[in-house]
Amino acid sequence: MKTLLVTGGCGFIGSNFIRWQLENYPDVEIINVDVLTYAGNLENLSSVEDDPRCRFEKGDICDRAFIDGVLSSTSVDAIVNFAAESHVDRSILDSGPFVQTNIVGTQVLLDASRQANVERYLQVSTDEVYGSLGSEGFFTEETPLDPSSPYSACKTSADLLVQAYCRTHGFPGIITRCSNNYGPYQFPEKLIPLFISNALKDEALPVYGTGENVRDWIHVIDHCRGIDAALRDGKPGEVYNFGGHAELTNMDLTLRLLRALGKPETLIRHVEDRAGHDFRYAIDTAKAERELGWKPQVVFNTGLKETIDWYLSNTTWVERVRSGAYRDYYETQYGHRLA
Ligand code: NAD
Ligand code: DAU
Repeated sequence: MKTLLVTGGCGFIGSNFIRWQLENYPDVEIINVDVLTYAGNLENLSSVEDDPRCRFEKGDICDRAFIDGVLSSTSVDAIVNFAAESHVDRSILDSGPFVQTNIVGTQVLLDASRQANVERYLQVSTDEVYGSLGSEGFFTEETPLDPSSPYSACKTSADLLVQAYCRTHGFPGIITRCSNNYGPYQFPEKLIPLFISNALKDEALPVYGTGENVRDWIHVIDHCRGIDAALRDGKPGEVYNFGGHAELTNMDLTLRLLRALGKPETLIRHVEDRAGHDFRYAIDTAKAERELGWKPQVVFNTGLKETIDWYLSNTTWVERVRSGAYRDYYETQYGHRLA
């Protein structure tokens, strides 16, 4: 597994994965394919930009000629597909780009991989394909797929394509499904970086509905370690769930963030609930532990403190990302402009 084609490597998880690979495998070679949407940022990889083991190719995973060109220029051992439209709220505003990248893009990668006889294909998927839990229970790999949002419906469609290629063509595909990631370089449309960056500016924190919804938080590096384990030791055709065993209500998390930042609870605003808002996600990680020898390692309180410190130390990154089109999105989503 020496040469990896990583798609979406300029986003949050992809950039953390590339850095982690370069740190942990001296011989690895990475081709990073990213079209640089609003969420893709070359700055996320500035610490490794001079590393000769990593090459960037700007392009769209939906462009078959482009992907064929990349695959014919270098012999690739495996593809790891992170590229996606990833934000639920944006999929509610407009599902078009989600259908295109998350479904058509996956189909293009699958066909191009088959043609190039790539040995391994890993689809980075999400626990959101399972839908919503009540206050009890956990998602296993056997939980029926029941997506609620246009985002998760498109991720589910992609998973079904991968599964169908495995069954129909004997394709060497593996699917991983992970819970909510947090850590450095996350785009501040997602809860944790949004609330940290708003609180730092004394902007309101928009909590959807009552804030009783529960998410299971996992540090991005634990997710990256899981993807690596599945890529190397997973079985083709199989699904592996990853989670952080750190379930919190959104209100609990919001209060922790405010306390850590020394900001008042009066910044909290309960706003209209997200349409189709899944109540709870929680993951049974027994299969990944048993078959991949994987376990989440980062303790949530430690990981959250390090993440807050990262945002405090990288205010220039935050400011740049929160300028321009982000401000228009914010106004459309939250009904007022950022100060
Ligand atoms: P992100 O939005 O931060 O990054 C997505 C990246 O994909 C960006 O760099 C973007 O430019 C690129 N991209 C988008 N469309 C593309 C296209 N057509 N061609 C090439 N590149 C394209 O997303 P993320 O949070 O890093 O998520 C990465 C993957 O992990 C996604 O597939 C997502 O569904 C999955 N996932 C995310 C989480 C999470 O909590 N963030 C949890 C589980 C699974
Ligand atoms: O579970 C994995 C998924 O986690 C990934 O597949 C997605 O790509 C990723 O975006 C994330 O989805 P969520 O919708 O759970 O994450 P988000 O950060 O958008 O929201 C987390 C919770 O916080 C959710 O219950 C909605 C709530 N929320 C979110 C925002 C942006 C608010 O209350 N207010 C907000 O402004």
